[in-house]
Amino acid sequence: MSKTNGSSKNGSSTRYVVEALNLGKDLQMGQVTVKALRDATFNVTKGEMLSIIGPSGSGKSTLLGLIGGLDTPTQGRVVIDGVDITQLNERALTRIRNEKIGFVFQFFNLVPTLTAVENVALPVQFARERRFNPTARAKELLTLLDLQDRMYHRPNQLSGGEQQRVAIARALANNPPLLMCDEPTGNLDTVSGALVLNALREINHAMQTTMIIVTHDLNVAAQTDRVIALVDGKIAREIDPTSTAELAAMRGFQDRAGDPALVR
Ligand SMILES: Nc1ncnc2c1ncn2[C@@H]1O[C@H](COP(=O)(O)OP(=O)(O)OP(=O)(O)O)[C@@H](O)[C@H]1O
Ligand SMILES: [Mg+2]
Repeated sequence: MSKTNGSSKNGSSTRYVVEALNLGKDLQMGQVTVKALRDATFNVTKGEMLSIIGPSGSGKSTLLGLIGGLDTPTQGRVVIDGVDITQLNERALTRIRNEKIGFVFQFFNLVPTLTAVENVALPVQFARERRFNPTARAKELLTLLDLQDRMYHRPNQLSGGEQQRVAIARALANNPPLLMCDEPTGNLDTVSGALVLNALREINHAMQTTMIIVTHDLNVAAQTDRVIALVDGKIAREIDPTSTAELAAMRGFQDRAGDPALVR
């Protein structure tokens, strides 16, 4: 495994948790090649919260899948916490995914027959090296996410926002340095979405977990540290999330993607 930046195994504060270099993905549709992503180059520093916005079909999920090692690029490379994951075989890649990356998706994908505590404890029980007591870790994270009164509820006894917070706790169970979220508030009403985003911010602060959040919601993007805008598979620009003018300028093009029927 190649190391970058010459930093120690546990990393220094200046080390990048994510390095994407000329990342690209071509998809073959019969005779036609779809360039789902082209020349994406950017770094994410430890503890940063980055959002990725862009219209439907602009390549957001493709980019997230490549960074998370769920998909392989046709060009370029991805370095996660010092390890070039594009050089790894499937077995090594699975290990990196399990140890270094937590995933949260639009639909919560909790195990319906298990309680909140059991859902969160599951990845701790199955970790290659068990670093925590599974039940104690689950309770700690659920409490951090303000779900201390919902520990023994099953998914169908929880609201959407509560289920998503359980899914976030599960993704954080083995303390990954990187959390990747694809439309984490996409299936939630405004209030639940705001609670989920607050929870992510608090976790980001408390645990210094680096986060990459794909979102259609400019209100979500506005609360992150950095915003990358994708258009037609390319990074169009980086937007300053503290600039209401820059965010307002994005609104027209985002709104075209706001139709839920277009959301994949
Ligand atoms: N399996 C596939 N085969 C062929 N083309 C694909 C495939 N998956 C995605 N694409 C195409 O790649 C492009 C990028 O798709 P992607 O899912 O990354 O977009 P997105 O920005 O996440 O969109 P959304 O906001 O709708 O989720 C789109 O043009 C899409 O049609
Ligand atoms: Mg998508």
